[in-house]
Amino acid sequence: MSTPADTATTSVAPTLGYTTLEEEARIDALPLSGELPAWLAGSLLRTGPAKFEIGSQHMRHWFDGLAMLHRFTIDDGAVSYGNRFLESRSYRAAREQGRMVYGEFATDPCRSLFKRMQTLFSPGSALPDNANINVTRLGERFIAMTETPLPVQFDPHTLASAGVRPYEAPGQLTTAHPHMDRAGGGMLNYAAKLGARSSYRFFAVDPEATAPRQIASLPVKEPAYMHSFGLTERWLVLAEFPLVVNPLALALSGRPYIENYRWKPELGTRFTLVDRATGEATGGFRTDACFAFHHVNAYEEGDEVVVDMCAFADAQIIEDLYLERLRAGKPVATAELTRFRLRLTDRSVRRELLADGDIELPRINYGRCNERPHRYVWGACGGPSGWLEGIVKIDVEDGSRQTWSQPDCYAGEPVFVARPGAEREDDGALLSIVLDARAESSFLLVLDAADLSELARAEVPHHIPFSFHGQFVRS
Ligand SMILES: [Fe+2]
Repeated sequence: MSTPADTATTSVAPTLGYTTLEEEARIDALPLSGELPAWLAGSLLRTGPAKFEIGSQHMRHWFDGLAMLHRFTIDDGAVSYGNRFLESRSYRAAREQGRMVYGEFATDPCRSLFKRMQTLFSPGSALPDNANINVTRLGERFIAMTETPLPVQFDPHTLASAGVRPYEAPGQLTTAHPHMDRAGGGMLNYAAKLGARSSYRFFAVDPEATAPRQIASLPVKEPAYMHSFGLTERWLVLAEFPLVVNPLALALSGRPYIENYRWKPELGTRFTLVDRATGEATGGFRTDACFAFHHVNAYEEGDEVVVDMCAFADAQIIEDLYLERLRAGKPVATAELTRFRLRLTDRSVRRELLADGDIELPRINYGRCNERPHRYVWGACGGPSGWLEGIVKIDVEDGSRQTWSQPDCYAGEPVFVARPGAEREDDGALLSIVLDARAESSFLLVLDAADLSELARAEVPHHIPFSFHGQFVRS
């Protein structure tokens, strides 16, 4: 007879989620159980790392893998599926030459010093475009994004690359988490321009534009690693964590990109608000050191700007996501839903924990709550033996949590889709790709966003390596 302890030790590890998927498929109807909401129609488009070896070179970090796009289309109660490697120039060069040609987050091909200098100071010339972090819609265009300034446009039906560069961000580093510009319909983002005089640049890309429009430029000596930023009706919100880089050292060190950043907790976490209309910056907000990948939401309340993030104690998480550690089942640092209140009158920062327990890959009812107060946050959460073991819903008003989990199953980012005409903030569905490690395959899980009860699942015949982010596009 098995005891609970035995059960825990016999669970199947999520190693497959960090394993290459070579197969590209198109499947008209996935085996479906349960019942899809009748109102749910459209496509979940996602990107994520899917190939971790090129020739004899092995990627070192989860963020390095070559991007694959995935499409789940829900139509008339059925789910079709397609996946395809993103035909970036990084991917094409790797395929044609059988080796790694462009550097990634923590893995570099062997390159000369001259080549490194050229990469850093001549944007566009040799930067990678392995867009494995997020996808977004810009007007009628669909683009996959990473943290270099080169997004890749693709066809949302066939997932083939469109072969044109939708735009180029004004710097060498940017985020794959743009915000929607409610007024103009385009997107807002920031980039770091590195050089003898480095700067942060906020920019907008209008729906049809092929070039960014600059909103603000702020000088910076040692740029911080920032994976996302916040947005309120008036402000762009920059949170500089004390993980910083000396741009010249980055150019000269010979180490892979992220390994040039240094943790300097004495700097604290510094917030800057940039006026969306004038580009004017208001800084001087400082609190204790922490680190985050993801802003959750931000809004204004009286004389305060409220900024919610999934905050880690420090930047250890970046170390924890090296593939060797993940595949060995080493522990992964966890983030907590944390609120920062920036008071404009005295530039003070108040920090509060919104709920106990961990959450990452956060989503909100974005269409309704972006720039405005929100009550609910959904995300992936850990379980007894690690992370990505379940899906969590947090009510920030009372700190309560609800979770979904199942033995041997590992969940990705839950994408919230509002029911058309919904009045409640949490009236909708959550879509998440879940790895069933025992079955060695993945499925699309559809949950009721209000109570996390399972509505339906559609099974894919192979595993889907863990992906980062995706968007739902209504038909
Ligand atoms: Fe992200």
